[in-house]
Amino acid sequence: QIIEWDPEDAGKGGYDHYMLKEIHEQPTSLRQTLRGRADPATGDIALEDFPPGTFEEISRVQFVACGTSYHAGLVGSHFIGSRGLPAQTFLASEYAVSAPPVDENTLVVGVTQSGETADTLSALRRAEAGGARTLAVTNVVGSTAARECDDAMFIRAGPEIGVAATKTFSSQVVSLSLLGERLVRDVVGRRSDDTQDVLSALADLPDHVQRILDYTKAHRVAKRYRDSDSYFFIGRGSVFPVALEGALKFKEISYEHAEGFAAGELKHGPLALVTPATPVFAVFTGRHDRKTLSNMKEVEARGAPVVAVASETNEEIVQYADDVLTIPDTHPDVAGILANVQLQLLSYHAAAQLDRPIDKPRNLAKSVTVE
Ligand code: G6P
Repeated sequence: QIIEWDPEDAGKGGYDHYMLKEIHEQPTSLRQTLRGRADPATGDIALEDFPPGTFEEISRVQFVACGTSYHAGLVGSHFIGSRGLPAQTFLASEYAVSAPPVDENTLVVGVTQSGETADTLSALRRAEAGGARTLAVTNVVGSTAARECDDAMFIRAGPEIGVAATKTFSSQVVSLSLLGERLVRDVVGRRSDDTQDVLSALADLPDHVQRILDYTKAHRVAKRYRDSDSYFFIGRGSVFPVALEGALKFKEISYEHAEGFAAGELKHGPLALVTPATPVFAVFTGRHDRKTLSNMKEVEARGAPVVAVASETNEEIVQYADDVLTIPDTHPDVAGILANVQLQLLSYHAAAQLDRPIDKPRNLAKSVTVE
């Protein structure tokens, strides 16, 4: 008997799609990203090319990126900004046409898993021309961004084939947290107060992600809401970008209408769209939860089903939500990575149930090399 096999299926390692395989690879890819770079016991950070003092001259940080990488950049600027170093994130396509002022004390960080996205390269070139110091945070050694920037940091996520970025997002966020901690120490002159808590939360991440993969109910939640009109995602602070990323992933591969909002902005307009046919996914981190809970109640009062993505120990949220996608307890700045894994699984299962071509969504490319 001849057993037919196709090299593409072999590459999927038994999974139906590369995307699902890459979601499941996250415990491993995160271990690679972290390996040798942080010691929670001492609070030490060792970034190969960036010894202590590397960024002493820097006074502000600007991130430029597109798509999923833009959302990782937003998490990065939140992390750095909340620790006392001015930081902002820009859409690269906008930065390339209307860049804010830069000088030699500005660090412009291009976040790009491929290192080849035309908009991001253009933004970096513009920053360079303005005299800024540039740094690429990328997955590809030898990519254009890595070669052209003054410095590069590699996220070590391993190859990602699915067009929808999954494991590279998690590794970008971890890399930006480590880089952020280095920057804060160099510029602000001291460790963040919660350094050791952040580093131990990062060290626990691979196991925490594994726990989500083992126990997720995302397939059931996706099925329950599959006939909805639109899907909304809300988050506050460090998980506002996760709400944006949850919605981007959902629309990319399911072709259903999805939008992400800052939880507090819902009442300033988007609430008009909320009906019993628009499930709202609310992301909680353990920080600012009261406020997001009240936004969740506003939505419920309009009859919308609410799915909370929250810590398994948060009984109050569990009581108000129609469904809960749980995440292990962790530091609020790391919780977003875990919540995002639940949302990746949600999008995947929604798209699989609708029979979409998950690894190659229509009209999209893995790397966009035109502006
Ligand atoms: C394309 C991909 C997105 C990705 C974006 C930025 O649009 O479809 O998944 O987030 O490019 O890619 P980069 O390689 O710069 O991270």
